[in-house]
Amino acid sequence: MKIPDPHIIVIFGASGDLTKRKLIPAIHQLFINHLLPDDFVILGTSRTPLTEEEFRHRMTEFLPTDEEKNIQFLNKIYYQTIDYELTEDYVKLKTRLESLNQSLNIPANYLFYLSTPPNLYDVIPEKLALADLNSQSDGFRRLIIEKPFGNNLKSARLLNISLLKNYEENQIFRIDHYLGKETVQNLMVTRFANGIFEPVWNRNFIGRVEISSAESLGVEGRGGYYDHSGAMRDMVQNHLLQVVGMVAMEPPVIIEADAIRHEVMKVFQSLRPIKPEDLQKQVIRGQYTASTIKGQALPGYREESGVDPGSHTETFIAMKFFIDNWRWAGVPFFIRTGKKLPTRVTEIVIEFKPTPHHLFDQNGIEQNKPNQLIIRIQPDEGLLLKFNMKEPGAGFSVNQVNMDFHYSSLAEIQLSSAYERLLLDCLHGDATLFSRGDTVEAAWIFIQPILDAWANDPSIPIYGYPAGTWGPYESDGLMDGEMTWRYPCKNLADDGLYCEL
Ligand code: BG6
Repeated sequence: MKIPDPHIIVIFGASGDLTKRKLIPAIHQLFINHLLPDDFVILGTSRTPLTEEEFRHRMTEFLPTDEEKNIQFLNKIYYQTIDYELTEDYVKLKTRLESLNQSLNIPANYLFYLSTPPNLYDVIPEKLALADLNSQSDGFRRLIIEKPFGNNLKSARLLNISLLKNYEENQIFRIDHYLGKETVQNLMVTRFANGIFEPVWNRNFIGRVEISSAESLGVEGRGGYYDHSGAMRDMVQNHLLQVVGMVAMEPPVIIEADAIRHEVMKVFQSLRPIKPEDLQKQVIRGQYTASTIKGQALPGYREESGVDPGSHTETFIAMKFFIDNWRWAGVPFFIRTGKKLPTRVTEIVIEFKPTPHHLFDQNGIEQNKPNQLIIRIQPDEGLLLKFNMKEPGAGFSVNQVNMDFHYSSLAEIQLSSAYERLLLDCLHGDATLFSRGDTVEAAWIFIQPILDAWANDPSIPIYGYPAGTWGPYESDGLMDGEMTWRYPCKNLADDGLYCEL
């Protein structure tokens, strides 16, 4: 495995939750797995005045306790307080970086990780540039920008313009942690390394595609942020559309950042805009209400702290749309995501068209169900193929059975976290699994008219659903005829004898 060049990772917003929960554990794991060079350090910065010792201590909260190498790792962590708005604080930051370079003999390769509130995503890069920390004359300078990238199409465009004033596109890494998930990357391998799937991956054989990302948790103390975001901005505009991109794209010419991102861009450009008159037939929004599950009272969304008691923010979305291109013409895509659903699961269902003639129907009742390929993103990552088999015995009774693969069966393989993969890729300068500026805008172009309609037309309903259920039943109305959503359990092969919720 190639090891990145020696470097300093500078984390802005280092006193926040993401740093101790995700970033430091991910860097720690890379360190333990010998995937980082010996010469690297982390410089945390934030407004909070902290000593280096205090900061190091905070960073231990989510590290494994029994790890002998923790002390060695913690010694690589430094801290500096910063006022994000003050240009002179970036000059001080530069002096600090230079002193670390000299004292530790590390070249001037800097990765700036922006884990701050989004209103600083243009301020910090601009101030870094004023301190000449954008120029790559003596080492790399890369920016990782957390989501949300903009709050709407206009702000995303302005943010791109502001960043591109001082940085090249290949210095900007817009993170979408879904692309760091092993199973999302495996989509490309499933599609493009298997002769059995490639010929059937199109409108001739696929009847519909369904992508569900359910969460059992609610807003978990993030009510203040979430109430201004909602499921469309929080999950659909980024994570779920990126998954659509991977399912629907054409084979890239090579496995390389721009080749892949061109193909994702083409998918986004082919998304058929949802017309105002079709909005209510194609997009269902919902919000969870109070309920009692197994004797436990669950609060409704409007009772959560930080949420406006009269809030119209959606915690659930189900939508149907089309991709107007040669491969997907006429195939409906369905997306569903929500908070406080019965379980946490993300999966893709590729449903194949039925056989043209039903030989085995009994008494006029259809026996064979359409084949489905289910790609489980999380948890219990794996693949499941559902197909029809003859029930042993007399006659021709048909039953659907499962053929499944679970990543967990690869006992010696440990799946790395999305943040490990993405941080490492960025340190290698590989932007394949990061969103490009134009694709982020293209995703907003698709979503924005829906957000505008909701903002401007209060008569568009937002349906309540009791916390702990699969969302408003109106979402079933998106599907024609006999079709229904797959209601997955935590375990991948759900229609056996048990269903774990
Ligand atoms: C984040 C959203 O980007 O993704 C959260 O802000 C959401 O609201 C999370 O819970 C889901 O990520 P995962 O990896 O748990 O599916």
